[in-house]
Amino acid sequence: MSCRRGALIVLEGVDRAGKTTQCQELVNALQQSGRAAEMMRFPDRTTKIGQLISSYLEKKSNLEDHTVHLLFSANRWEMVPLMKQKLEQGIDLVVDRYAFSGVAFTSAKPGFSLEWCMNPDIGLPKPDLVMFLQLNPNMAANRGEFGIERYETSAFQRTVHQRFEELMQDSSVNWKVIDAARTIEEVHKDIKLLSEDIISLAQNQPVGELWR
Ligand code: TMP
Repeated sequence: MSCRRGALIVLEGVDRAGKTTQCQELVNALQQSGRAAEMMRFPDRTTKIGQLISSYLEKKSNLEDHTVHLLFSANRWEMVPLMKQKLEQGIDLVVDRYAFSGVAFTSAKPGFSLEWCMNPDIGLPKPDLVMFLQLNPNMAANRGEFGIERYETSAFQRTVHQRFEELMQDSSVNWKVIDAARTIEEVHKDIKLLSEDIISLAQNQPVGELWR
């Protein structure tokens, strides 16, 4: 008999909304409650594709806009076999950014439609839950280190936020909005509760396909 699968849980939001901290907190909490939970992040800068992306984000190299979009998507696809394997083994995956960041950031550039941006990510493992850490982009800008990497300007982040709002209209994805302007502990409490609920629900269902 196969074991019950793990849940695929994604945290999204504009830069500096606290996603990484909250992913770590959630993984720790799930592990403490006896679950096998692991964190993943996109872009995964450790692969060859991820290194190209990292160099672009650090402004050490330039890439054409369509090209970098497709590299971000390829960086997710290259991890799919591993993700499926872990989910089948009953491991909960807590993911820092996913295809939604891919679409929100590229479509914030002139000349890119949501539809074009979504296409390469159609069919990825569908998250059981996507929590959007809601934080006013002006507040995000006041949190540390804003402005070091590419895309970290208030004007761009405001457009990214609008694109996320458009993506959240899609009811085929299980979106939950979390007020990220509160303390780390308060935000964590909400995230943990929502995650525990979805873990019980997901374990009896097959992994879906995103946007299909
Ligand atoms: P992070 O490693 O600090 O999360 O930053 C990654 C940056 O890359 C962030 O500005 C969002 C952006 N991004 C995209 O443009 N497309 C994508 O597909 C992903 C995952 C991130």
